[in-house]
Amino acid sequence: MIILGIETSCDETGVAIVEQNPNSSLSIHSNIVASSLKKHAETGGIIPEIAAREQIKAMAPVLSEALLKGIGYHLGENTSPAIDAIAVTYGPGLIGSLLVGVETAKTLSSIWNKPLIPVNHMHGHLYANWLENSDIVLPAVVLIVSGGHTDLLLLNEKKEITIIGGTRDDAAGEAFDKIGRLLNLPYPAGPRISQLAEQGNATNYPLPRPMIGSKDYEFSFSGLKTAVLNLVKKNNWDFSQVESSSKLQQIQYDLSASVQKAIIEVLVRKTVSAAIHHNVKSVLLGGGVAANSLLKKRLLEELSEKSIALTSPSPELCTDNGAMIAAAAFFSPPVDRHLVKAEPGLYY
Ligand code: KG4
Ligand code: ZN
Repeated sequence: MIILGIETSCDETGVAIVEQNPNSSLSIHSNIVASSLKKHAETGGIIPEIAAREQIKAMAPVLSEALLKGIGYHLGENTSPAIDAIAVTYGPGLIGSLLVGVETAKTLSSIWNKPLIPVNHMHGHLYANWLENSDIVLPAVVLIVSGGHTDLLLLNEKKEITIIGGTRDDAAGEAFDKIGRLLNLPYPAGPRISQLAEQGNATNYPLPRPMIGSKDYEFSFSGLKTAVLNLVKKNNWDFSQVESSSKLQQIQYDLSASVQKAIIEVLVRKTVSAAIHHNVKSVLLGGGVAANSLLKKRLLEELSEKSIALTSPSPELCTDNGAMIAAAAFFSPPVDRHLVKAEPGLYY
């Protein structure tokens, strides 16, 4: 079975062709992603209308490249492509961006007479774990950490998802991005903070680990952002001058290391205690922050002692892409295409 997956929930336009093999492992034939990230770096955050307009521009070229690379099909041929279904993200996300993918998918499903499978974006991040690993042993605790989410899930069976915790305010990726602005780093700041952290000392600036001791699986990251803001204000640090001051540069390195350590310590502590409490065999990661190598290293250290396996998608499959939407579609039923709608605020 071959599925065409379309993802347009935010600033990435992703289209992929994924095949499920007879032994039920998945093969990615193509996975093309265009991003309007550079435009948002100029404004320091995503402007929804710009993201939607960029989705419209990118959709046809990305779709055409994914079909050609994946199955040698030229968009515009008279016959339908050799795919069995079309999957598309219906939400959550930005409404203007979602509409581009949903309406494209509905049109293609109608012209080519292929079933349409609506996919929840968060399920995409979760099932991305099966794109490179078909031997995942359940039950599992799943940590989804992206720009909009910090969720802890329990997965007893492949389709049985229970939410066991989440953030009360900022998501982990959002914390990286907002603190990045205080350090004068371009959006999205997560990858840059983790790069700068390599040259920093994580113990120079003691930062809070919000809710680390709470006996639940809830998170809160807005206090961390406020702590960094207060530190920057108190010391009058102006990170726009970082290039002309080696002292300021070192402060930026050290703060990056301290922020990364604080966020990761909370994520690791809660994930590991959830895994022990629920007696799971595996921990799965998903979402853009799962691309962070220190997060994976620390989790691996903690979990291997307890003989719990850690699975995480490759970095390019952690951030938004079409292959993860196709992967989730193998676990979801098709829906009458007239009933498929963009749902910006629907979680899980
Ligand atoms: O999943 P994603 O591509 O989009 C959403 O659905 O939000 O995640 C993007 C988020 C951003 O907040 C970005 O700063 C963060 O993932 N991110 C990282 C890293 N790579 C991306 N955060 C920390 N370390 C990274 N290496
Ligand atoms: Zn995402």
